[in-house]
Amino acid sequence: MLQTKRAYTEKEINGLHLRIYASHQYLYSDAVKILFNHLSTSKNRNIGLATGATFEPFYAELVSQCKAMGKERLEVNTFNLDEYLGLSRDDPNTYATYMQRHLFSKIAVEGSFIPNSNAAYPEIEASFYENLIRSKGGIGLQYLGIGTNGHIGFNEPGTATDTITHTVELSESTISSNSIYFKTARMPHKAITMGIGTILSADKIVLIATGKSKSAAIMGSVMQDPSPDVPASALRMHGNATILIDAPAASSLRL
Ligand code: F6R
Repeated sequence: MLQTKRAYTEKEINGLHLRIYASHQYLYSDAVKILFNHLSTSKNRNIGLATGATFEPFYAELVSQCKAMGKERLEVNTFNLDEYLGLSRDDPNTYATYMQRHLFSKIAVEGSFIPNSNAAYPEIEASFYENLIRSKGGIGLQYLGIGTNGHIGFNEPGTATDTITHTVELSESTISSNSIYFKTARMPHKAITMGIGTILSADKIVLIATGKSKSAAIMGSVMQDPSPDVPASALRMHGNATILIDAPAASSLRL
């Protein structure tokens, strides 16, 4: 059993609860423990999930902790933050396929929801997804990554803080960061994402960031005046948001 008590430095800054870890092993182990703590203390079992490179070790750790507990199934409904548009649902580059590969092929869940990458009417799909989240009782625990430009979900710089699930044109920065993952198709330039307002409606939020490439976005989110130019800075309005980062991602913070 990992002893995590002294595995991180803890700070409260500008309404955010920040934990800085020396080791990824402890960071991801704690990130998963937060999920199990949530499930043991809250009736809301709707979990908002993120994808991307940051979350691959998270799902590996979640699967490993489930197996260690003899669990093959989690009694949760999962709602992914976002999905590319213009790809068939079984395209290897969709976030639906990512989730299948990293989690759902290994651990069963009660329900899993993700916007349809192949929706004929994307705006209708976006509003359907927002209504679905609300009709199921809202998100209890929302996990987030962060883009190098400070985006959360695919809420790019300039997005208003009260947006609900909507379609987006991805920014040049996001296209350049994510296109390396597209080996078999051109990266779509459009996506559906939960809005910042949708994200802020969650009871609890956990953002994970690792690596030096995220340090400026973390600095802007945590230390600078909140601004739509850095979408993650909106988390400071939430009141129950925790940020788990490694030392390189924290390296621009003046603590
Ligand atoms: C993905 C998502 C994005 C990513 C962010 C970081 O579902 O919501 O906001 O979390 O782009 O991606 P990585 O982890 O690949 O650097």
